[in-house]
Amino acid sequence: MSSFFQGLYGERVKDLRPSPIREMLHLVRRPGIISFAGGMPDPEAFPVELFYQAAGIIKSQGKDVLQYGTTEGYAPLKDFLIQWTAPRMGRKLEHDEMLITAGSSQVSDLLCWALIDKDDLILMEEPSFLGVFLNMHNHGAKFLTVPCDDEGMMVDLIPEKVERAQREGKKVKLCYTIANFHNPLGTTLSLERRRKLIEYAHRYGFAIMEDDPYGYVRFEGEHLPTLFSLDDRGVVIYAGSFSKILAPGTRVGWCCGHKDIIRKMAIFKQGVDVCTSLVAQAMVYEYCRLGHLDSFLPKIIDHYRKKRDAMEDAMRRHLPLEKLHWVKPQGGYFYWVKMDGIDCDRLFQVAVDKQVAFVPGKAFYPNRDGGDQEIRLCYTFASPEQTDQGMRRLGEAMREMIR
Ligand SMILES: Cc1ncc(COP(=O)(O)O)c(C=O)c1O
Repeated sequence: MSSFFQGLYGERVKDLRPSPIREMLHLVRRPGIISFAGGMPDPEAFPVELFYQAAGIIKSQGKDVLQYGTTEGYAPLKDFLIQWTAPRMGRKLEHDEMLITAGSSQVSDLLCWALIDKDDLILMEEPSFLGVFLNMHNHGAKFLTVPCDDEGMMVDLIPEKVERAQREGKKVKLCYTIANFHNPLGTTLSLERRRKLIEYAHRYGFAIMEDDPYGYVRFEGEHLPTLFSLDDRGVVIYAGSFSKILAPGTRVGWCCGHKDIIRKMAIFKQGVDVCTSLVAQAMVYEYCRLGHLDSFLPKIIDHYRKKRDAMEDAMRRHLPLEKLHWVKPQGGYFYWVKMDGIDCDRLFQVAVDKQVAFVPGKAFYPNRDGGDQEIRLCYTFASPEQTDQGMRRLGEAMREMIR
């Protein structure tokens, strides 16, 4: 029986795209399976006791923090973030240049509400984070994709692509980039490319969303300047998140940008969710105020550095290296493995039969036209022992396919 709603759905439902990863998760949750699939933090890296201490703010200030909050965000948390982010943002921001959001996922959503009309073009790294591009697609955006190499987005290809689109009368409004420890690529955009990207945004009049949930999870090397700090014309909207530096269950993130766009996004947010949970913001603030963010973050980084190293070692031990290429990530959560002559969908079936899972590369291609011989491996969730065992199974699956 067709549902009552069939006759009522709006235009957007016709081409609604669900997340293939979310759909796949029931498969990889089977008992005994070792999963490198979902991009999940390790619960062992959650500061449970410290966060519980911070929850004391409910007792001391419950009458305030159990109330509705302002849409723009809890002022003490914004004060803290303005100080804490200043070294990477290049200066201390004003309050009206920052909006507290429900994770960084909400930043791209609010930005689409503010900028995107049906069929507007967004420049997208290819591959990219599907959570964001599926949402942008559901807003009616189309994607002008830019291939990536070991240094991230090949920005030199942008002028030709944008000029062609403009000649065809299309509007390129935004470029979405994950400059640090890309999801899924693991790469970091070089300083030279960052500068060029800003230059092209100025030349062609598109905005940049710099999505940076992994930026503070750097294992080695120096932080590169944020795109936000390299731009002097207010074209960059920076998105940060507590998901990877504290815990994703907080659902607290932030965005920074010119006060005009922040104001528009805040007005849309009024209708979307009124405000980010005030009690969650207050607990996150208290955690920061007590010094736990600064004291615990190095432990998170250390924990994941060890896991990255365990995966690198296991990959070198067990995989058919002559058929593979990858870049060792300097931070973040992911390896992206390019395979020569191995189909990722067939490999997935064989691997799941052997009780190991990953995400086939195709899922990360915004226009669904690539990634057949690529896979994403997340190293944060499995223990080093599971990683070794899982890689052995994956190596066997790959060798079976090569034969
Ligand atoms: C690139 C990127 N952006 C955003 C998010 C979502 O972050 P949040 O939990 O802050 O919404 C993720 C999470 O995996 C991500 O990889």
